[in-house]
Amino acid sequence: MYDFAADADLPKPELYSALARAADALVQGEPDPIANMANLAAVIWQFVPDLNWAGFYRTVEDELVLGPFMGKPACIRIPFGRGVCGTAAALGTTQVVPDVHAFPGHIACDADSRSELVVPVLRDGKVIAVIDLDSPTPGRFDDEDAAGLQLLAQVASLAI
Ligand code: SME
Repeated sequence: MYDFAADADLPKPELYSALARAADALVQGEPDPIANMANLAAVIWQFVPDLNWAGFYRTVEDELVLGPFMGKPACIRIPFGRGVCGTAAALGTTQVVPDVHAFPGHIACDADSRSELVVPVLRDGKVIAVIDLDSPTPGRFDDEDAAGLQLLAQVASLAI
């Protein structure tokens, strides 16, 4: 049994370093990428407050394909360059979007989403996946969330 204690009152840097430690422990010794993405999505959901969606899109050939996640069913295929996820994948850069309705080409998967954070997962310089967090609160994500999720992307890079 895994019983990680998530304390949403921690300052963000501490919350995300606790999340990265929990994530690292979860994937230790497990080579299966689907199992690892599933547990990573679950532990993000457990640690990070005020989300309505958290999970993975994987690079498959030249597009993103839905991976393990927590939240409502979501669109399955996203071309590189489209929406927030496709932009993060095409540019290889983190996207912090305070207002999804103001983002050109945003793909609405859950009508509750108001803000979004997408971090690319890089291996050997290539984007192998993105981690996508959605929140019902406008402006939910800042640079500390981005830096924290990048720690998680480093764990994922070796585990998926
Ligand atoms: N909103 C995303 C699509 C994925 S869902 O939010 C789960 C986007 O614009 O890329």
